[in-house]
Amino acid sequence: MALNAHRQVITVADSAELANSAADRVLARIAANDGRVAICLTGGSSPTQLYRLLATDPYRNQIPWDRVHWFIGDERFVPAADPLNNMGMARRIFLDRCAPAANIHPIPTDAADPREAARRYESELQSFYGANELVPSRPLFDVVLMGVGPDGHTASLFPDYPAIEEIERWVVGVPQAHVEPFVPRVTLTLPALNSCREMLFEVAGAEKRTILTRVLDGENLPANRARSTGETIWLVDQAALPENFRGR
Ligand code: 6PG
Repeated sequence: MALNAHRQVITVADSAELANSAADRVLARIAANDGRVAICLTGGSSPTQLYRLLATDPYRNQIPWDRVHWFIGDERFVPAADPLNNMGMARRIFLDRCAPAANIHPIPTDAADPREAARRYESELQSFYGANELVPSRPLFDVVLMGVGPDGHTASLFPDYPAIEEIERWVVGVPQAHVEPFVPRVTLTLPALNSCREMLFEVAGAEKRTILTRVLDGENLPANRARSTGETIWLVDQAALPENFRGR
């Protein structure tokens, strides 16, 4: 484990070990809260092994499904059944088999446009939280899962887009994506994402090495501005780890 400014970087052998470590961390956060638990999922391909594990024993039978709520950090503005839909992917892999329907909180992509979807999701989050202002001592989420894109984006917070500077709204529409898939997005903003006990990035594979080098060098990228008010953990496998970071 290495400390890199505001985060802990935990290195693991490969993507299988990464998914196991992530699942253990999610379970530990659930176990630490004996009330209602809120987990914010992510899209992309990075979390799919983790999602599969959560639907498999011994993880599945250790999760008190009735008191865990599942949200999504960003969504592609496509119908719920579209293969590109982030929550749709999580539902297919594990949620629909494991979680009560009332505990699954998708971003409504049947709204008129991304801005309207953002407004509706923000009010759902605020009603779940029980207030319209976030209080640092009472984080919105127990865990926020994250991934990093090739341009340093995380959730749908792209470099130099206005959404990354948003400090009032919890959720905003993003009319145009900066990378594939080029569909409009809806994303939680930094104040909402950062309001968590643990933010957990999963980074695996050699194709992530270039962007991870820039992130670990402290470049001003959205992924570096996403940091929990509690713990921020970057789980990184050997293939993604930059040469000059090995052994640190
Ligand atoms: C999305 C994501 C996005 C993703 C990163 C990493 O909707 O695309 O939420 O922020 O996490 O782009 O994606 P991969 O895991 O596919 O590399």
